[in-house]
Amino acid sequence: MIDPAVKDKIFAAVNIVDIVSDFITLKKRGVNYIACCPFHNEKTPSFVVSPSKGVFKCFGCGKAGNAVTFVMEHEHMGFVDALKYVGRKYGIDVEEQEMTPEQRQIQDKRQSMLAVNSFAAEYFKKTLTQTSQGQSIGLGYLRQRGISDSAIEKFGLGYCPSGKDTFTRTALDAGYKLEYLTATGLTIQREDGSLYDRFSDRIIFPIHSVSGNVIGFGGRIMSSEKKTAKYLNSPESEIYHKSDTLYGIYFARNAISKRDNCILVEGYTDVMSMHSSGIENVVASSGTSLTKEQIALISRFTKNVTVIYDGDSAGIKASLRGINMILEAGLNVRCVPLPEGEDPDSFARQHSALELEEYLKNNTEDFITFKTNILLGEAGYDPMLRASAIKDIVESIAVIPDVITRSVYTKQCASMLDINSTTLESEINRQITRRIYSEQELREIDNLRKIQQKKHQVSSQPSQPTTTEDLRIEQFEREFIGYLLLQGHEFFHITLENNEVERRNVAEYIISEIEYDNITLHNKTLNTIFEIYKNAWNEAIGQAQETDPDNDPMVTLEQSQWKFPIHIFNSSEDIAVAQTVSDIVMQDEKLRPSKLWEEYDMPVCPDRLRLGDLVPRVINIYKSKIIEEMITEIQKRLDSPELNEEQVAELIDRIKLLNESRVYFCQKYTRIII
Ligand code: CTP
Ligand code: MN
Repeated sequence: MIDPAVKDKIFAAVNIVDIVSDFITLKKRGVNYIACCPFHNEKTPSFVVSPSKGVFKCFGCGKAGNAVTFVMEHEHMGFVDALKYVGRKYGIDVEEQEMTPEQRQIQDKRQSMLAVNSFAAEYFKKTLTQTSQGQSIGLGYLRQRGISDSAIEKFGLGYCPSGKDTFTRTALDAGYKLEYLTATGLTIQREDGSLYDRFSDRIIFPIHSVSGNVIGFGGRIMSSEKKTAKYLNSPESEIYHKSDTLYGIYFARNAISKRDNCILVEGYTDVMSMHSSGIENVVASSGTSLTKEQIALISRFTKNVTVIYDGDSAGIKASLRGINMILEAGLNVRCVPLPEGEDPDSFARQHSALELEEYLKNNTEDFITFKTNILLGEAGYDPMLRASAIKDIVESIAVIPDVITRSVYTKQCASMLDINSTTLESEINRQITRRIYSEQELREIDNLRKIQQKKHQVSSQPSQPTTTEDLRIEQFEREFIGYLLLQGHEFFHITLENNEVERRNVAEYIISEIEYDNITLHNKTLNTIFEIYKNAWNEAIGQAQETDPDNDPMVTLEQSQWKFPIHIFNSSEDIAVAQTVSDIVMQDEKLRPSKLWEEYDMPVCPDRLRLGDLVPRVINIYKSKIIEEMITEIQKRLDSPELNEEQVAELIDRIKLLNESRVYFCQKYTRIII
């Protein structure tokens, strides 16, 4: 929890141009600033920053938001960290709510451990590049393995000198506490008290967290002795959790976002070699199959994973299973098999950067096809093996959460497996229900189904889903939220039924119309925006009332040239809110006809004079759409055979009533037939 007062202080101080300029170069154009969008690749700028509105929007890829969400998305930070970043720029300290003494202690310990690691990383690096032992043994080894100097520098590779405790002594001399040297695992203390360097005489691969802190190390031995482990890694600790970490994520994250793809390899050297060949969107799972946490980490940057497989089939088969978890997380998985006997490291070294790119491009297959081919090839014509291969593939398809993707794969696999697609579908559906319900629940569902089947003597038509209608309704919601955000403070004239003319305020009109009918907006984000707006509006009205109790508060607001403080939305932690608000308030920065209005024959940018026509119209069409939806709902209920005559009559009455009000809303202000 952050103190709301501090939050407000930051939002009052922030200038979005300052913040965005930290990361990209902005050019002034008119009242706004432009640049090439950092969220997608482009050559001509379509990224616009509006200092007056405090928001940014890319007219190319559609990304939009405010200063804080810019930092969140560009730096992949959480809300609190982004807020801290912005606060620091204006000298405002963000203190999270008081920590307990235990929390404080843990925090201090983590800080001290990070400090030790950072010292160690620096020391190992210097030892590699600046001592004769490091240069001859360490650098010699790395160069011979074809790792480029720039990659060595970028990943901060190092060398830990041979000798029992050379590093530990240096660290102690520099004032680092033994407690933290052992907590990070850099130093091993034996029972007799003697101290040893864990990584003595090893090449050091620092392991960075997603935000760039050194949280652990991997150390490779240079000789090919069989007795000693090839790699030693830092032990699990307060700062290093192997299963939450991906090697290389800090250096790969921007490339992953930009290319919208994450390449997954096995080891440290695979990552290094790919980088040396200019492919930067690569991370390593460090020899184990991915964990849920690692998958979640990837999905912060992209929903697409490409797994590169070493060219030996035993390894591939073993790892197929692990992929189901990635599919289950809703990510798309593609595969690239390497030629027999190659791993990414050896392959990257033997081919030019261009050849590597080409190979990846030409040999990428989607995972389901890849798996199907491998398992089918293995099964040959053996019917038992084929059946078990099909079961295995079905399992992979069944975990995919997206219905459409699942059905595409089902069709494709049916043809590859040469079996009826309905059969495959029903097997997949059976697996899905199995995953969701327990045996007991399944039996109950089955019973219910049987009972219902008996009841339904005549089967009724399944009703059409209303998703397209929902979309429609949401477009109208967006339209009137637009009026609120851009023109909420304006007034318009409305002609009443008795031909009298009334002066209304846009925000007051929309809010009261929606509240009068107790409508909850269908789109969750728009509904949140509406609620935030409503609260801020009520507060403003309350204050106006206090300042001038004798005047109509809306007129007081008008006289003081009040405008809705859009920056209120900056304090919402919901990126979707920031995105939508920014998108809406930037819509007049570029003239782009709204599809809705094109269809309904409306002007591109409504001017104030037409507000009296447009605002009531959008509200009334919206309401008539909602009524239509209610009617459809009731019609669906009418299909149910369990209704008695009385209930049927009641529902029909309700439809009649609803229809009347629908016609009322349609006629009231609409000249077009809908
Ligand atoms: N690994 C480990 N401990 C080991 C062996 C492997 O932690 N004893 C992890 C490392 O993260 C390693 C990865 O598993 O990078 C993949 O193992 P491997 O392919 O054997 O290592 P490479 O990275 O390919 O290293 P090299 O090419 O130097 O043999
Ligand atoms: Mn290797």
